[in-house]
Amino acid sequence: MQSYEITPKVDAAREFLEIAGDFTNPLEVVREAISNSMDAGATAMKIEFSQPREVGTYVLTILLEDNGRGMDGDELQAFFDLGNSSKRHRPELIGEKGHGTKVFFNCASIRVETTRDNVTRTAEMQQPFKSLHAGQLPQASVTVREAVGRSAGTQIRILGFNDNQGEFFTHERLRDYIKWFTKFGSCEAVFDRDENRAKVIDLKGLDAKASQRIEFGHVFPEAPHPHLHHHPGMSIVPRHTVSIDVRKPPDTFVDFRA
Ligand SMILES: Nc1ncnc2c1ncn2[C@@H]1O[C@H](COP(=O)(O)OP(=O)(O)OP(=O)(O)O)[C@@H](O)[C@H]1O
Ligand SMILES: [Mg+2]
Repeated sequence: MQSYEITPKVDAAREFLEIAGDFTNPLEVVREAISNSMDAGATAMKIEFSQPREVGTYVLTILLEDNGRGMDGDELQAFFDLGNSSKRHRPELIGEKGHGTKVFFNCASIRVETTRDNVTRTAEMQQPFKSLHAGQLPQASVTVREAVGRSAGTQIRILGFNDNQGEFFTHERLRDYIKWFTKFGSCEAVFDRDENRAKVIDLKGLDAKASQRIEFGHVFPEAPHPHLHHHPGMSIVPRHTVSIDVRKPPDTFVDFRA
């Protein structure tokens, strides 16, 4: 008789690839970004989609900006790691798995510029999706510089997302998705929870000429709750049937424990 041990292994590049391509709806990129910005305590976010033409191709570009706490070196590492969440044992936050930002890897390049405590870190990763397909882990190059007086926050620029397929990212579709399927469309304001009420997103979809300010909270199209009348920007009524992701519940839920 012979005996031996098996140590389970993981094919890291393969796992990253699975997570990066694992969405039923490309709009989930927006949900992950909003969840992270809200977890970072942001009160203002900017989400902009554009498709500038470069050397004959239209490069789908996503710009995500927030005025949250920003990241230190360890958190920036966690941004690129799989399964390394800096939010473990923080049930009040949305994130927990360390998977969210990995949907960003489905692109041609990612640039993250984040500021905390007068230090700005800039990380650039080239061709993450291509590398993963070739079985290699992509690397991010980071520069660190002093930024005295610069306010905290994070800016993420993603080029060539989802093979430049932009049809999902029209303005109205994004707006409806944000209101229905993200933490930002939470109906908690109706239940007298105030902490997120003043938060805003400046959104610009691919087909929009200018950005539009979206205010926090869900809108019930048929019977608006009386409390919602305080919010001038909240007359948004969904016009599309939005496909529901059946694998994961949306971040939007009512927490009755609170
Ligand atoms: N906008 C942001 N501001 C500050 N830190 C961020 C931001 N986005 C990501 N991070 C950092 O990157 C880490 C990884 O993010 P990621 O979304 O992958 O995981 P998570 O939010 O911890 O969990 P989940 O998989 O449930 O989203 C976070 O834990 C956080 O430390
Ligand atoms: Mg997250």
